Amino acid sequence: MTALLEIRGLRGGYGQVEVLRGVDLTVQAGETVALLGSNGAGKSTLNNVVCGIYPAWGGTVQFDGRDLSRAHYREVVKAGLIQVPEGRKVFPNLTVLENLELGSFTRARERRAANLDKVFAIFPRLKER
Ligand SMILES: Nc1ncnc2c1ncn2[C@@H]1O[C@H](COP(=O)(O)OP(=O)(O)O)[C@@H](O)[C@H]1O
Ligand SMILES: [Mg+2]
Repeated sequence: MTALLEIRGLRGGYGQVEVLRGVDLTVQAGETVALLGSNGAGKSTLNNVVCGIYPAWGGTVQFDGRDLSRAHYREVVKAGLIQVPEGRKVFPNLTVLENLELGSFTRARERRAANLDKVFAIFPRLKER
């Protein structure tokens, strides 16, 4: 079976500092993978290099049969590989609904209404707001 996400030998960092020194990671479709590590270990850097926010210095990223190793983050999002921001990192100038709609901006527009219903069933407070 081809993995949904296949990271091989990924390298990256900041200036002279190499943070990712050959990271290998495989995620199968339907699988949940948690990345654990102490503060400063490189979890966010890995996330951001995989998503094209910072450039990869080496190695490969394959997602859903596509090579995203050097892709711009716009292409990464279009391919369906997205980050869900932690904590309160929403867009404060947008409404609750607009923040939710962003999740279907590129790919899931036709499923938007159904997906919103699902979200509101899980988080009724969001519907109120
Ligand atoms: N924008 C940045 N510029 C320079 N160094 C950074 C930057 N972001 C993170 N680092 C450094 O990269 C290393 C990994 O950080 P990070 O990926 O944020 O770790 P984690 O998310 O696991 O806590 C740390 O040494 C951190 O200080
Ligand atoms: Mg982090």
